[in-house]
Amino acid sequence: MCYHCAMTLLASAAAAPAPLVDPHGRRVSYLRLSVTDRCDFRCSYCMPENVAFLPKRDVLSLEELDAVARAFVRLGVSKLRITGGEPLVRRNVLSLFQSLGGLVGSGLRELTLTTNGSQLGRLAVPLYGAGVRRVNVSLDTLDPGRFGRLTRTGHLQPVLDGLAAAKAARLKVKINAVVIKDFNEDELLDLVRWCGARDFDITFIEVMPLGELTPGVRLSQYLSLAEVRRRLGEHLSLVPADKDTGGPSRYYFCEETGGNVGFIAPMTGNFCDNCNRVRVTCTGTLYPCLGQNTARSLRDIVRADPTADSPELEAAIRGAVARKPKGHDFALHHALAGAADEVAVSRSMNTTGG
Ligand code: 5AD
Ligand code: SF4
Repeated sequence: MCYHCAMTLLASAAAAPAPLVDPHGRRVSYLRLSVTDRCDFRCSYCMPENVAFLPKRDVLSLEELDAVARAFVRLGVSKLRITGGEPLVRRNVLSLFQSLGGLVGSGLRELTLTTNGSQLGRLAVPLYGAGVRRVNVSLDTLDPGRFGRLTRTGHLQPVLDGLAAAKAARLKVKINAVVIKDFNEDELLDLVRWCGARDFDITFIEVMPLGELTPGVRLSQYLSLAEVRRRLGEHLSLVPADKDTGGPSRYYFCEETGGNVGFIAPMTGNFCDNCNRVRVTCTGTLYPCLGQNTARSLRDIVRADPTADSPELEAAIRGAVARKPKGHDFALHHALAGAADEVAVSRSMNTTGG
């Protein structure tokens, strides 16, 4: 290596900020960034039918969201998931994907999103063009009537068309299916086979006690994923895969379909030890843990200085990471302890982006 190259390397090493590590020794490498609380669906487990969305002035602009995301990438975040609400209903959101996609390969390892799929028919190709390679799509049922009842304002067919468009655009698809007792429990095997036939992975999610809900309702919808796995195991060979995502999912390889089947059990699983993630809402609030109310608003800071290397922004992010709780607090016994406690954390999924 020549002198000049060595000096340049040294200088860039010196300039690289220290990574984000919390007091429990966990490195924060994954940011979930919500870009809107709005959605074209009204899933009953997520929001009330007559939900009031946030006033636009409270929501960060695309430029402010871009600055926040870039600040995290500068501090060592290598995986970025764009969420909502429904991220693809935000006007001009593609420009954010295009901007952040430019970071893939230089600091950012992966830019991805979670979507309800309703806009993928129109956006799958440009998302791939922006640098997205994988999408998580929520789909709890393949029955059009059930889909309509659950999502209240949604229709199944555009989502199926969106999924076909994603596959044609070479996006790798993972389906997220929330398991709801007495609603879709009879379809879970069909869902695994349907996904397998399309080369989609699938992850089952336990209903979580988030948001406002009539006491008692959500608990009655609860079906343990251990039971789901047992039932699927009567028809399929599920071989444990040892991949650790740093998240609450456990994965199995399904020999019959050749696809992966995951289970996310935030109520029963014990996964906080390896947690690598933080969340930022569309109003710029940083939550170091989904299950706790610890939070730090970045909004005024990013509005005062909407640049990724703002020292105030870095200090605020580091301050919040320094208060990342050791574990979450979703345990089912909290819900059982009293009806009013069922809502463990009074935030809706559409504000934290799941
Ligand atoms: N419990 C479990 N999953 C939920 N989601 C939204 N609300 C809940 C809830 N209360 C899911 C969506 C989507 C993901 C982002 O979160 O279905 O798959
Ligand atoms: Fe929209 Fe997703 Fe909430 Fe359903 S779960 S209302 S698709 S944000």
